[in-house]
Amino acid sequence: MTMNHYNIAVIGGDGTGPEVTREALKVAEAAAAKFGFNLSWQPYDIGGDRYLKTGEVLPDSVVAELRKFKAIFLGAVGHPQVKPGILEKGILLRLRFELEQYINLRPVKLYRAVDCPVKDKGPEHVDFVVVRENNEGIYTGAGGFVFKGTPHEVAIQESVNTRRGVERCLRYAFELTAKRRGGKPWKGLKPEDITAGKTSQLTLCGKTNVLTYAFDLWERAFHEVGAKYSSVKRDYAHVDATCMWFVKNPEWFDVIVTDNMFGDIITDLAAMIQGGLGVAAGGNINPEGTSMFEPMGGSAPKYTGQNVINPIAAINAGALMLEFLGETKAAAAIEAAVIQIINSKIQSLAAGKMGYSTSQVGDLVAAAL
Ligand code: IPM
Ligand code: MN
Repeated sequence: MTMNHYNIAVIGGDGTGPEVTREALKVAEAAAAKFGFNLSWQPYDIGGDRYLKTGEVLPDSVVAELRKFKAIFLGAVGHPQVKPGILEKGILLRLRFELEQYINLRPVKLYRAVDCPVKDKGPEHVDFVVVRENNEGIYTGAGGFVFKGTPHEVAIQESVNTRRGVERCLRYAFELTAKRRGGKPWKGLKPEDITAGKTSQLTLCGKTNVLTYAFDLWERAFHEVGAKYSSVKRDYAHVDATCMWFVKNPEWFDVIVTDNMFGDIITDLAAMIQGGLGVAAGGNINPEGTSMFEPMGGSAPKYTGQNVINPIAAINAGALMLEFLGETKAAAAIEAAVIQIINSKIQSLAAGKMGYSTSQVGDLVAAAL
């Protein structure tokens, strides 16, 4: 029998990015050995240091090479000596857009009650997924200045919502929601939902009361696309109410779909109720092309090189990547190992307070597989 083999592009990036990447790859390799597939890594030297040395952010030739991979693993971008925006827009957003990674998938799952800052909420209350549209909205760069630098200057930043872009995002979200719990009814459903044949819920998070063009389109497309998914209960929440309920009643959510900016904001809040940026991972997904997996936490420059940063978000991003590649057993085993280590060993999920170093946490998870 031939073993499946995956060649993955790796951008360690800035700050603690390379440290957490090392642990994610270590754990993924241990899972590969256990579940019988092969991984190889193709490193790319992209990030703040390269930019400071050579002036290059992301050469076109690198983008062309990256297109050939099914997956990219990204540690972090963001460098204290580089003006904010250059690396974020020039690397992260450029790759998301040019590789048409139109979904940003962010699972939100609390593993241990003590890690949740919300009183009386435990793992049974925090277990949902955010599907963030990743190619449009206010992130496209559409807009500009008029009379820049004068007292009457105008800055316009437009939100782009195409029917095609919104629909493909919604379709992905409905497919994911329909399959999410293997057909077992989600416990947030009401008895009448279950009688009506619903097994899961997709919440559109928007602002239909104010953004009456953008979310009008989203809402119409939501119901049109959703009509084909009879097992998915369609739900709606304004983005401000969503923030309130993340704190008050996170158990009301199963899967959420939203636009680029709202998704950016609510997933930082969501990361806090799942235990912080030390665990939150995301996938930038192009189901037909090259996807990119990353911890949500950023480059955390003040912890660079100290071996104290929590690598679990990166390890979880590695699990998301393996799941995307079809290695579902390996992905599930990594998650189970992470839960076991968090519950039995790790004192706190915060950098420097884990009770173990970055590399020790990677070793512990790899050994628990
Ligand atoms: C994220 C980040 C990025 C975003 C930044 C770094 C451009 O905050 O992945 O959520 O806004 O999408
Ligand atoms: Mn963000």
